[in-house]
Amino acid sequence: MTKKEDCKWLNSAVFYQIYPQSFNDTNGDGIGDIPGIIEKLDYIQSLGCDAIWVNPCFVSPFNDAGYDVADYYKVAPRYGTNADLKRLFKAAHKKGMRVCLDLVPGHTSIDHPHFQKSCQPGKNEFTNRYVWVDNPWGWDDPDSAGGVKTVHGYGNRHGAYVTNFFWSQPAINYGFAKPDPNMPWQLPATHPDCRATAEEMKNIMRFWLDMGVDGFRVDMAFSLIKNDPGKRATIALWKSVRKMMDKEYPGAALIAEWFKPSEAIPAGFHVDFFRMGHDDNMLRGEKEVRLDLPGDAPCYFRKKGQGDISGAMAELTGYLRKMKPGGYVGFFTGNHDVSRISVGRSQKEVELVFAFILTMPWVPFVYYGDEIAMRYQDIPSKEGGYGRTGSRTPMQWSDGKNAGFSSARADKLYLPVDAKYKKLNVEHQEKNPRSLLNRVRQLTALRKEFPALQADGKFDILYSKPNKYPLIYMRSSGKQKILVAINPSGKSTKTIVQIPGVESIENLINAGSVELKHNNGNFSIEMDRVSYGVFELKG
Ligand code: NOJ
Repeated sequence: MTKKEDCKWLNSAVFYQIYPQSFNDTNGDGIGDIPGIIEKLDYIQSLGCDAIWVNPCFVSPFNDAGYDVADYYKVAPRYGTNADLKRLFKAAHKKGMRVCLDLVPGHTSIDHPHFQKSCQPGKNEFTNRYVWVDNPWGWDDPDSAGGVKTVHGYGNRHGAYVTNFFWSQPAINYGFAKPDPNMPWQLPATHPDCRATAEEMKNIMRFWLDMGVDGFRVDMAFSLIKNDPGKRATIALWKSVRKMMDKEYPGAALIAEWFKPSEAIPAGFHVDFFRMGHDDNMLRGEKEVRLDLPGDAPCYFRKKGQGDISGAMAELTGYLRKMKPGGYVGFFTGNHDVSRISVGRSQKEVELVFAFILTMPWVPFVYYGDEIAMRYQDIPSKEGGYGRTGSRTPMQWSDGKNAGFSSARADKLYLPVDAKYKKLNVEHQEKNPRSLLNRVRQLTALRKEFPALQADGKFDILYSKPNKYPLIYMRSSGKQKILVAINPSGKSTKTIVQIPGVESIENLINAGSVELKHNNGNFSIEMDRVSYGVFELKG
């Protein structure tokens, strides 16, 4: 990619998320690898995806599937080499695609050499590079440690380290926004050692950007500075990162895992994920893996027709109204942390979720395998996945050995392949023009063809009422107007909406039968159960 362009490419981008362990194994060791990603670039492009986010692929003991990095500058041997990653960047660029890596700036693995040095009793360059409380006995109550979680009994240093996620992920020290004077171990964010930490993060980014990466998805981006009400200091820190990127690598994208675009976008991120739907009653529901919410909720995108989308739509409209130009909401079909969208849904219902995600004003992310409705597997935990493990199984390419994922012995695979792979695989769906895979292709092709459907296109809700179906919205750009109507419920619907100035209607996709009649600006939209339609309205 040339360095002069800006991040406008995000407007039309459709991302494909790859969990490298499980995507495509080319050396027969049972674990996916980077050459395997290169081999499948044509496939990814055939889906209409032009950008890739790869989960962490760096040296790691894999206590959290690679989110516990031991060397930020080196590809984990099980995935290949730095040269392989460079080849991936080049091969993708040749096809007009982009590749983003996962940056984990908030914590390392306990195996990281800097952490090991910070565990030593004497003072050294890395003593302050991690957050350590000065009490080796730790505290069970985070409140007594200034709101942080500590691990005690590790290493010979007189103290206990602060952890960011699992116990084996010590928090890197970016300082405290409001250090407690009674806790001198809490350094201010302006302390030279905390500044050095931030500089190190920028150097890691530069290293991969120089090699050709197109951006980063940033893990727990909100978590860097501790005791930071309103995230003001963390926002200032990311602003300085964005400044560096704009100056040295314009066109490279910063994608936040923050789940609060109202903070992440002003902080300098181009994209932040919108949690809407994955936690509330829009996409998730019964039987799904819930990592952070108790209980089951009814769900809008299900035949049962329970659930409410109107609140989420209103929230989104609010976000979009305040969003500054060049900032985007991101939305995923699924990811390595949540259950598969196929849980409790037929392929047709999954198609409706895709129709929604691919016609909305955000940057869509397709999680590998969701395009064929891969299933969530009830399997034992692997590499700190716990309930998440079932969403991380090998990609089902064909009905061949191990679903075409690997030539290894089945018991050597990273995770078992879904027993139903003979019927549920890419090759099988390629042959059927009405398969989910081919519908996804049709939908991404529409998104590419019509600027109105892209992230910058205007978004107007025409029908979204509490606890009611269907959902109808208009996407527009200049004179182009696209109407999207989605009825995930098991009941047919009839809705009247007003749209002035329409002379003719073109059916772009009409799946499950949607009938549109108009008379003097009054549109009557009759929808079958579980149906959707995308229409171009011409004036
Ligand atoms: C969020 C990542 O998506 C998740 O997989 C990981 O376990 C935590 N952050 C900790 O890094």
